[in-house]
Amino acid sequence: MAYNVANTNQNNDAVSEIKNRLDIVDVVSEHLVLKKSGRNYWGCCPFHSEKTPSFSVNPDKGIFKCFGCGVGGDAISFLMKINNSTFFEVISDLANKFGIELPAFGQTSEKTELKNKIYEINLETANYFNKILLENPEGIHAKEYLFKRDIDREIIQKFNIGYSLKQPDDLINHLIDNLKVSYDLLDKAGLISARTSGNGYVDRFRNRIMIPIQDDKGNIIAFGARTLDNSQNPKYLNSPDTVVFNKSRSLFALHQAKDSIRSLDSVIIMEGYFDVITAHANGLTNVVATLGTALTEQHIKMLARYTDSRRIYLGFDADDAGVNATSRGAEIIKSVFSGLGDIKQFDENFVSTGDINNRSSCEIRVVATNTGKDPDEFIRNEGIEAYKKLVNNSPLLIDYQINRIINSKGEIQSPQDKANLTKQLIPILSEIKNAIIRDEYIRLVSERLEINEESLSIEVKKSLQKSIPSRADFKQIVTKNSEKHILAQKNLLGLYFINNENVSTLCINDYLKEVMFLEPTYELLRQEIIRLTEKFEKKHSGNDYAEELTEELLTKFADNEEVKQIIADVIFSLDDKKCLNDKLIRQYIIENITYIQRHVALREQDELRSEYYARKDDELSSLQLQYKVKELIQLSQVRLEKIHD
Ligand code: CTP
Ligand code: MN
Repeated sequence: MAYNVANTNQNNDAVSEIKNRLDIVDVVSEHLVLKKSGRNYWGCCPFHSEKTPSFSVNPDKGIFKCFGCGVGGDAISFLMKINNSTFFEVISDLANKFGIELPAFGQTSEKTELKNKIYEINLETANYFNKILLENPEGIHAKEYLFKRDIDREIIQKFNIGYSLKQPDDLINHLIDNLKVSYDLLDKAGLISARTSGNGYVDRFRNRIMIPIQDDKGNIIAFGARTLDNSQNPKYLNSPDTVVFNKSRSLFALHQAKDSIRSLDSVIIMEGYFDVITAHANGLTNVVATLGTALTEQHIKMLARYTDSRRIYLGFDADDAGVNATSRGAEIIKSVFSGLGDIKQFDENFVSTGDINNRSSCEIRVVATNTGKDPDEFIRNEGIEAYKKLVNNSPLLIDYQINRIINSKGEIQSPQDKANLTKQLIPILSEIKNAIIRDEYIRLVSERLEINEESLSIEVKKSLQKSIPSRADFKQIVTKNSEKHILAQKNLLGLYFINNENVSTLCINDYLKEVMFLEPTYELLRQEIIRLTEKFEKKHSGNDYAEELTEELLTKFADNEEVKQIIADVIFSLDDKKCLNDKLIRQYIIENITYIQRHVALREQDELRSEYYARKDDELSSLQLQYKVKELIQLSQVRLEKIHD
């Protein structure tokens, strides 16, 4: 959300004070090792997986940029990205740290206040339910239920598990007495529901085991609640989505698991609360669960912050739902990391091709119990060591998929079966990027299905040729290479930052007045640069104000990540242009303007052309359109000539 925090005067002062106190090298160094080289610092990017440094920090201008994955911005952007926080959260954290007052944050502060209030209410609620479970005589059967599931006091405390009484307004009364809260607030916290008959509210959770759900920082954001006996429906009742809780962005037990996810450099994702609780109770702690929803991109992005090698074990139930969740989940994971490299497709002990694996963007393994039991039951029946063994021997996604297909028809396969299985296998085999590995798999599969290796190989090759890059791959290529007009806009903006005596900014301003910047964000930035340079030009004699310009822009757009990203891109691509002379600069400007004009012209022509096709049956209007196209082409010609003069 783009709230204009930086633009109220008071906040502007506070934000620039905070920015002044931040040293980008210090900030970044808390998260990765930086090495100085020339004027910049370099390190391995924390936002994508890499072994050679392509993450650069420019201390003079206070910005960073990764040449691998493209992210960039200032110290505040870095903190937002690394902590997954909003601008407001970062600024208030820093204001706290530096003892700076933040006046007039307006609307946003109300929302933050509401959030804090809900955290407080939820914590009180969790503690209250926990106390009932452990101390209230009415909690005895709940306690017995948990003990029966091998959940002892220690783990009850670790997860602050509780029990909600049967009385319809027990929690309401407790909270109103102790926290003096309103019904409205309890409703916003998702703890009460309107009575179905008559007026007023009742507790949402009654006669249930209460499991607090925390965010990664440990704030309680919601509850999961299980019935004690199977006659009560539904088995699990969760909090509704609230200002602090969004199912598709929350993972159960991430707060408890994050340290071991980091130290083990891997995470196991399960389906249920009790799967996770049992795993943690048995000392397997890099385990989280989704909350009765499918795995989402947000879930994976959250987890990626804690595991560098992005090793993700899918430990879903062994039933059909679990199998489906596994394939859907795997697709989500792949799409999140596409563009960062290939998914890991073979084990070191399978083929010893050494460093190819270093390039993998993520590693997906499937932990299937194959006994019809979920991880909770498996661990309690077979022991944690058996489960750990299962994890350690778990197949890579590709092996899991191939095995599942081959085994789906049992031992004896008719020719029809074989044809059918082959059809399912071909897309998976043709996904294997490395030709040696692919051939190896083709050999294995044909042996197991007793089919001709050569024929399978031919079919896979056919499918390979047909396969076009996926949308995600495509997006990467487009943004990196072919959007020349975008690059041109960046190049032109870059001219303002080069401290080159041959380039007077007023003269650049003159040139650029003729061009339209296509993207609104670029146009916004250009306007602001023109405003600032005109101001500077009055007070400076030369044009040695690139640093001042950067600083003013980063402050002005402190809460606009998109603009800050562009500024970082622009500044980090300058180096080779410093020494251009007057004539070359002119050429450079014209070249870049040409790209933009050409793009505008092509776009306009495209629009007209499709209009032409839509109306081609109507002779008169199609003739008019033809004239318009011609006119347009002439016009863009004239525009260019004007610049060349
Ligand atoms: N779930 C839910 N609402 C339901 C049923 C399930 O939100 N009505 C979610 C819960 O997060 C639950 C998970 O889906 O933990 C898995 O459901 P299920 O396999 O049915 O339950 P188990 O975890 O095996 O629960 P238990 O062992 O307590 O029976
Ligand atoms: Mn279960």
